[in-house]
Amino acid sequence: MEHANAILLCILISVISLPSPLTSLPTCEFPAIFNLGDSNSDTGGLSAAFGQAPYPHGITHFHHPAGRFCDGRLLIDFIAEDLGLPYLSAYLDSMASNFSHGANFATAGSTIRPQNTTMTQSGVSPISLDVQYVQYSDFRRRSPVLRKQGGVFEQLLPLEDSFSRALYTFDIGQNDLTAGYKLNMTTDQVKAYVPDVLHQFSNVVKGIYAQGGRSFWVHNTGPVGCLPYSLDRFLITAAQVNKYGCATPFNEVAQFFNRRLKDVVFQLRKDLPLAAITYVDVYSLKYSLFTQAKKLGFKDPLRACCGHGGKYNFNSKRRCGSKIIENGKEIVIANACKDPSVKVIWDGIHFTEAANRWMFKQLVNGSFSDPPIPLKMACHRTTDSLYYY
Ligand SMILES: *[C@@H]1O[C@H](CO)[C@@H](O)[C@H](O)[C@H]1NC(C)=O
Ligand SMILES: *[C@@H]1O[C@H](CO)[C@@H](O)[C@H](O)[C@H]1NC(C)=O
Ligand SMILES: *[C@@H]1O[C@H](CO)[C@@H](O)[C@H](O)[C@H]1NC(C)=O
Ligand SMILES: *[C@@H]1O[C@H](CO)[C@@H](O)[C@H](O)[C@H]1NC(C)=O
Repeated sequence: MEHANAILLCILISVISLPSPLTSLPTCEFPAIFNLGDSNSDTGGLSAAFGQAPYPHGITHFHHPAGRFCDGRLLIDFIAEDLGLPYLSAYLDSMASNFSHGANFATAGSTIRPQNTTMTQSGVSPISLDVQYVQYSDFRRRSPVLRKQGGVFEQLLPLEDSFSRALYTFDIGQNDLTAGYKLNMTTDQVKAYVPDVLHQFSNVVKGIYAQGGRSFWVHNTGPVGCLPYSLDRFLITAAQVNKYGCATPFNEVAQFFNRRLKDVVFQLRKDLPLAAITYVDVYSLKYSLFTQAKKLGFKDPLRACCGHGGKYNFNSKRRCGSKIIENGKEIVIANACKDPSVKVIWDGIHFTEAANRWMFKQLVNGSFSDPPIPLKMACHRTTDSLYYY
């Protein structure tokens, strides 16, 4: 009996002293972030190539247009802040860019698959994920060569080992879904091409891994059916609108995409044994902002802050920052609302800084991630964490 108790005590002690997941794993100390994506994470790419997102974009935090389709910071900015890194310069921005701690290849309107329509036809950026990958690969290959030349290059480009230690972040897919609807496809037709879209996404992750990338952070796609832009742009019947005012077919297709994306991430973990891949359920957070706006301190979530009238304060011909010339003077006719900090949607398509900040707070500790580990732990593989959990 005495003996049995001693054994039990030993077992108890060893169970209690097992390291807890958060204290046993070191934080990752990511030296850089490389981001690929669309407007959800564009910090100046589209602006550099096709013209600056106009005032009043940027009014909240930067106090001037800052290459973002937002009044202030995006999720990627909050991620950079949290990791103690500077905001990411857009790869395409040749003015005052500094890539020593990462680069941003995202552009607003980007899709994963290259489209057969031009930007003027469909609003889709020609800098699709395959192009972003080519740009990344060039950056990856040339950085060490240029850095060796010393001088300013040493200060502006990442250290060689930053590429393997960096966090690679992705937020893309939403525009692949709307691209089909713009071609008048049915929801079934859109769903039918989702596997091809995700196959191309998967190839890009594999390509980055082959060049030494190890830590990946993948945002799923949002409830596109709740955006004023979709509600205004696409034909929907009353029966397709749910009690929150969102168009269910578009949300269902986003959820369909997300389930498949999760499967792809699962497969990538098998195919890339040294990769740590975190899947982040941004969809649920964005959806909560629409369904529980009041509880979360927001008002009138389907109405854009910056726009020009109509049910959603969104007019696709007079978007946020639109100007007219009257008596020889430029006048902004789609201006910002009084208090962007209580708004969910900024310009009819993108979330406000306040919404982004709230989402970041929820996701940073890993409660919306698979595996459920905090941002600062995202270099640890699932198998590492399973061992401890
Ligand atoms: C564009 O056209 C090519 C050739 O017909 C086709 O293979 C590809 O899937 C099309 N892309 C999209 C996004 O529809
Ligand atoms: C680039 O950014 C890094 C990190 O913030 C900083 O140490 C460096 O001085 C910057 N270089 C230039 C030329 O601004
Ligand atoms: C989609 O349908 C609308 C309405 O019938 C039509 O005006 C538009 O040209 C169509 N677009 C395409 C790309 O076929
Ligand atoms: C994560 O953070 C959110 C927001 O601060 C909090 O509500 C939630 O309880 C946290 N979850 C865990 C698992 O710590």
